[in-house]
Amino acid sequence: MTLNPYRNDFPILSTKVNGKDLVYFDNAATTQKPASVMEAINIYYKEQNANPYRGLYGLSVEATNAYEEAREKVAAFIGAESPKEIIFTRNTTESLNLIAYTYGKMVLEEGDKVVAAISEHHSNILPWQQVTKEKGGILSYLYLNESGHIKEEEIEQKITEDTKIVAVAHVSNVLGTVHPVESIIKKAHEVGAVVVLDCAQSVPHYQINVKELDADFIVFSGHKMLGPMGIGVLYGKEKLLNEMPPFLTGGEMIEYVYEQEATFAPLPNKFEAGTPNVEGAVGLKAAINYIQKVGYHNITKIEEELTEYALARMKEIPHITIYGETDSTKKRCGVISFNVDDVHPHDTASILDADGIAIRAGHHCAQPLMKYMKVPATCRASLYFYNTKEEVDVFINSLKKVRRWLGYGD
Ligand code: ALA
Repeated sequence: MTLNPYRNDFPILSTKVNGKDLVYFDNAATTQKPASVMEAINIYYKEQNANPYRGLYGLSVEATNAYEEAREKVAAFIGAESPKEIIFTRNTTESLNLIAYTYGKMVLEEGDKVVAAISEHHSNILPWQQVTKEKGGILSYLYLNESGHIKEEEIEQKITEDTKIVAVAHVSNVLGTVHPVESIIKKAHEVGAVVVLDCAQSVPHYQINVKELDADFIVFSGHKMLGPMGIGVLYGKEKLLNEMPPFLTGGEMIEYVYEQEATFAPLPNKFEAGTPNVEGAVGLKAAINYIQKVGYHNITKIEEELTEYALARMKEIPHITIYGETDSTKKRCGVISFNVDDVHPHDTASILDADGIAIRAGHHCAQPLMKYMKVPATCRASLYFYNTKEEVDVFINSLKKVRRWLGYGD
């Protein structure tokens, strides 16, 4: 067995599914949680739980401190100027909706363009569809080449003077392609557009520094980076966040409420209506601590080896189509979309499930990309640093059975 020093930190990885050892290859959907994240949440409820901000007693102050310390941790983790630039949301989807319905509605005028990539998750398409429709704007797309990459010419042609917002994913949740966000951000800023970077699929794998990237907004989810579900992050440059109106209203996001009017709290509270998810923030802080303990260099090293191995072994099997970049050394991470010839992806996923292997099959919330690639759906195996080559072997052996089980001769 490959010695993976991290597996024991994840209790769920030693469970059985259908009598088989779990092979969890659906990390792009959500990652598993280390014991330290569960323990941090447990301690919070055992020792610190109260409603933050609202109580004038010790326990409420402790809950407030736990929540704010998590915000400081996130700010330092991504190199933000100040914790005021970190807004806690429920997830990436809520962060993107917040930006579209506040900043988007505030700046877009008739004929203005929002540019996204054709590979976006629906969460980075639907809010922009709604807002461009309402404001008479245009939603335009950067298309990918055969290997799933956005070429420089496409960036030059599509991001033009009438572009007000560029909303792109750093890493595709379907193809695992790492998009050329440095070029996209540079070009967007040249034409005076603001950049919204969806880092849901990149923060789990790569160190993100908001100052180096210089994106105006960066969003991601806790649950895809070892943290709990229900906590997400919206980073925004302070100046922009200050200019934006609130999104959801109510609770402690106010300064003063009159009968017909209200004034709002300063950042970050202006964007956090209602009782916040302290448990989620505490869990996210523990997840960041864990990632930092492992180190991104180790995460990347393991994932690169696994991806190279998985792609090479998949290419040995006849009747498998891999979508996007198939060269593991080229700007991609360990998210592998594929199909078995003549087999619906749901059938492939069910056959693999019988062997204890969890993959995702379907449109992956990216139907425009599916249409562009001319496939209704794909299977997707997504790897993380706690996976092993032995698990890839189990996956390959199961994959080899798929066509035979369905009655094909080879
Ligand atoms: N956005 C998640 C995925 O790609 C759920 O699977």
